[in-house]
Amino acid sequence: MQETLDISSIMHDESRQGEAFTIKQVKSEKEGNRQFYIESYGCAMNFSDSEIIAAILIKEGFKATRHFMEADLILVNTCSIRENAEQRVRQRLTEFSKAKKQNPSAIIGVLGCMAERLKSKFLEEEKIVDIVLGPDAYRDLPVLVARAEDGQRSVNVLLSREETYADINPVRLNSNGITAFISIMRGCNNMCSFCVVPFTRGRERSRDPHSIVAEATDLFAKGYREVTLLGQNVDSYHWQPGWGGETYNFAKLLESVAKINPLLRVRFSTSHPKDITDEVLHTMAAHHNMCKHIHLPVQSGSSAVLKRMNRTYDREWYLERVETIRKLLPGCGITTDIITGFCGETDAEHSDTLSMMETVKYNMAYMFSYSERPGTPAAKNFKDDVPVALKAKRLSEIVDLQHQHQQELHSLEPGKVYEVLAEGISKRSKEHLFGRTSENKVIIFPRNEVQLGDYVYVQVKEFTSATLFGEIINLNSKSEINRQHK
Ligand code: SAH
Ligand code: SF4
Ligand code: F3S
Repeated sequence: MQETLDISSIMHDESRQGEAFTIKQVKSEKEGNRQFYIESYGCAMNFSDSEIIAAILIKEGFKATRHFMEADLILVNTCSIRENAEQRVRQRLTEFSKAKKQNPSAIIGVLGCMAERLKSKFLEEEKIVDIVLGPDAYRDLPVLVARAEDGQRSVNVLLSREETYADINPVRLNSNGITAFISIMRGCNNMCSFCVVPFTRGRERSRDPHSIVAEATDLFAKGYREVTLLGQNVDSYHWQPGWGGETYNFAKLLESVAKINPLLRVRFSTSHPKDITDEVLHTMAAHHNMCKHIHLPVQSGSSAVLKRMNRTYDREWYLERVETIRKLLPGCGITTDIITGFCGETDAEHSDTLSMMETVKYNMAYMFSYSERPGTPAAKNFKDDVPVALKAKRLSEIVDLQHQHQQELHSLEPGKVYEVLAEGISKRSKEHLFGRTSENKVIIFPRNEVQLGDYVYVQVKEFTSATLFGEIINLNSKSEINRQHK
């Protein structure tokens, strides 16, 4: 209604008719050619969210660009997990301000966890930012972009109890066409005392399993051969339909995805040691295409530290879970996250983490120094009292030990044969491909006539602490595997 009135008033003014036409034409031409650039930080969930954001923008007529200097809309999907993750984003914003100087109509948006944590404070602190949008508000992006085009800076950081973006088909960014992430739930109901995620991502909610299976089925039809199901705590996945119908727990969801096709590998992350069930382990054992790898963040090997962290398990519980995994899934890869220098951590407690590592011998670990996050229970209740230098010393001890373990574990690998999914071309040489074993070990092998997305048998020949190198043992193995799966 408003628009009709505007047009008719312009039409009465002969002198402006042409101008109105030109403005309209220029705007619609620009709308069709607007380009967005998106950069993502943080966890896989954030990268997966960027694919939803891309889908929303492409529906609005935007095209993606890999160069921020030529973008009309520059977005940064941020992470708040540690202080340095936030600092990196601030530095990036100073780079983006160069693009804005060159093209003053460029719009800059901050999305994700840092947007949620800082809310409108962001607009005060960073003058170049036009849009601040939290993780549950991405559907509102086109509205905020329109406002920014009219010169208004705005914020939407409303968290939702329902939003899962289940109906949005993500646009795969930087994809190899073989492996993809699928978000199965959002938020987190745990309250690990060090962690900012419950504040930035809100309450936990699970996505409709039918939409998850449909997305995985569609990916398989497009040639993808591996999906990773994502959530902060996948074991608490729970789908309760509003009216009748079946409920789904995580084991049931896994089974439904594993049954799509034996040639579609299924991975998931992250498992919480308190919630991972034997039912999930049995489901993994029952399906060849369920990858035998569990990322099981321990955080600390000391029960007293775990209590302060509010992880709700202790050292014995964790070790029992590892033992059960090893019993039900022999050879399963186990990886972890470790935080060192948490509030009040003593030398003895730090040694407990080292001895936990000795006992489990992780295949890989992400290791961090504790970084206090404002507003978290740890920030409120404990003192961040381990000196920076001591945190660094303990971290380097942990890193060294992990390195040593990986070297030891890899020294047992030569001669072993693995089924490997070819995922990409090796960075070192075009004549080599890289892929992963079911246990998530990265292996590099000669390309020969293998295509990306093929399964091949590779025999390990050499190793470093991070990577295995091998030879394809039988070029016909590709079809053998295909037959075996049928
Ligand atoms: N949901 C996952 C972890 C998400 S965050 C889980 O429960 O395991 C990824 C990792 O970042 C955590 O496992 C933890 O090791 C680390 N992390 C989280 N908050 C941190 C903080 N304040 N300082 C240092 N590391 C932190
Ligand atoms: Fe953070 Fe704990 Fe939730 Fe993981 S489970 S996201 S560490 S609160
Ligand atoms: Fe970071 Fe948010 Fe993920 S804080 S780790 S991007 S959930």
